[in-house]
Amino acid sequence: MKKKILPLILAMGILAAHSQTKPSASVIPVPASLIENSGTFTLKNNSVISISAGSSKEIDGMGLQLAKVLHTATGYNFKTDNAGTNEGIKLELLATPSTSLGNEGYRLKVTSTGVLISANKPAGIFYGIQSLMQLLPKEIESKTLVQNVAWTVPCVTIDDQPRFGWRGLMLDVSRHFFTKQEVKKFMDDMVKFKFNLLHLHLTDDEGWRIEIKSLPKLTSIGAWRVERNGKWANSPKAADASEPKTYGGFYTQEDIKELVKYGQERFLTIMPEIDVPGHSMAALASYPELSCTGGEHSVYNGIPFMNWFPGGKFEAITENGLCPANENVYEFLDKVFTEVAALFPFEYIHMGGDECAKNFWEKSPAVQALMKREGLKTMPEVESYFVRRVEKIVNSKGKKLMGWDEILEGGISPTANVMSWRGVKGGIEAAKSKHNVVMSPSSFAYLDYVQGEPLLEAPVYASLRLNKVYSFDPIQEGMDAKYVLGGQGNQWTEQIGNYRNLQYMTWPRALAIAEDTWSPKEKKDWSSFASRVEKQFDRWDLADDTYSKAMYDAIVAASKDEKGNLFANISTELGGMTIYYSFDESNPDNYYPKYTAPVLVPKDAATMKIVTYRNGKQIGKQINIPITELAKRAPKK
Ligand code: ACM
Repeated sequence: MKKKILPLILAMGILAAHSQTKPSASVIPVPASLIENSGTFTLKNNSVISISAGSSKEIDGMGLQLAKVLHTATGYNFKTDNAGTNEGIKLELLATPSTSLGNEGYRLKVTSTGVLISANKPAGIFYGIQSLMQLLPKEIESKTLVQNVAWTVPCVTIDDQPRFGWRGLMLDVSRHFFTKQEVKKFMDDMVKFKFNLLHLHLTDDEGWRIEIKSLPKLTSIGAWRVERNGKWANSPKAADASEPKTYGGFYTQEDIKELVKYGQERFLTIMPEIDVPGHSMAALASYPELSCTGGEHSVYNGIPFMNWFPGGKFEAITENGLCPANENVYEFLDKVFTEVAALFPFEYIHMGGDECAKNFWEKSPAVQALMKREGLKTMPEVESYFVRRVEKIVNSKGKKLMGWDEILEGGISPTANVMSWRGVKGGIEAAKSKHNVVMSPSSFAYLDYVQGEPLLEAPVYASLRLNKVYSFDPIQEGMDAKYVLGGQGNQWTEQIGNYRNLQYMTWPRALAIAEDTWSPKEKKDWSSFASRVEKQFDRWDLADDTYSKAMYDAIVAASKDEKGNLFANISTELGGMTIYYSFDESNPDNYYPKYTAPVLVPKDAATMKIVTYRNGKQIGKQINIPITELAKRAPKK
């Protein structure tokens, strides 16, 4: 008897140890197919990174880069060779292309003896490497040597390719300027999650950020403004002409070339946006003759310059639009797009086209004369005339036009491409009329919106939580998928003035965009995603990167019954959390009342304080909501 029990106990011990130490295969975005097998592969000092014979120089470079990255945390040296050995890590371009993998797909097979990444194209190998990095222990993200880690990779078979060819993030470098180094870091962060497109919003009212050699004032004047630190970078008082314009910056053409190359080395394309005819205060400050009124103009001077009305209507207080009736404008744009087209190899140039106030156009005799001459009846038709002329210019440089969904108004040329941002409506309309569409609806993809409890976050006019971003599907009902290029998240930076905050506002919501645009729809699963996001938190901590943990904070809503009694309706984004609260001004912990159903708010309470717990530990931040604020959240009856 004894003889039999001992091996059994030992086997159970080994099994238990194995299940404790076996790393789980956690990859974001979730692969199209991932099969976990038993066992692990362990990286060792002097493991080989082998590039299969016949692979390109590009793959050799990736092998060397991988060796360098793995060395940092492991301290191991890796040998790279072309011997075609099957031990260690092998990168292999398929001699016979796989029809299922396309241009970006890859296969990743981990066995106890080695890792094989194979793909049709170098991009696929690159994405296979990104998945491999996520399969390694989190300490691989450390920027310094980590001792006593078994560098194991779970045995898996991954067969993966993206759902969409356009997986993007937009970065607004106009409202706040981000240095070339910061943009590179943003790109590094993106490609880990298989994004392949960075849309740079290069011009706006707050600054022109790209050198145009034939129009030097765009950057000598247009790239600089007064420094403002208030909410929305506004201040009570406009700057006068004597106040120094100390805030700003721009990318020289050499910088742009460097960024484009940096992207290419990471399979990340950069799409430039020159936002016209609206959002053009910086251009008008540089060349006031491009406005309808002439005279002095300045880059954003510290006070609001638009009036926003309910229902999405608006007007400009300060003129910020190029004049569509001025031939100099088209000459100007020809110069701009000539240089932009030469710098960015991407087939699309984005012309903006959003939020163009028409009130200065309406008053302009030149615009009225244009309307008469061209038979244009409405302001949207005037704008459409402008867009068509810009498209001709962009096309003449060998590029396709992309614009925000306003370009649909007043008629659109059959060849224009649309980026849908005002909800999904514009995208559906554009796809129905056979235009290519990139979906970046504010309702799902605006990463500048508040991501948690508004009382705890920097103020922005709208909210968008991680779980809503995760529910984004670029293909909406009624759309023919063949017109949907893909999707992207947009990071506007009116309220984001430094890189740490940019990271905080971007991550983890951009992880959701990555999965929305890469992974098959049927593979998406919120609770699986949320647990993989939590693992990513640990990695960012090790890499000294920052991100938001707002997904742990309670969601605080309210309702009123027929008698007008106020109820607090509290929920959480994640399962497995418990909510505790108080109404007596004290700070609740897990011995306080537990929230299980809408709570009647005592008539005399001034504040409701709420915390979330998981496994006996506080996990979300405490929310102290004044009852007056809570009452405002109850839907009006
Ligand atoms: C936009 O958000 N104005 C495109």
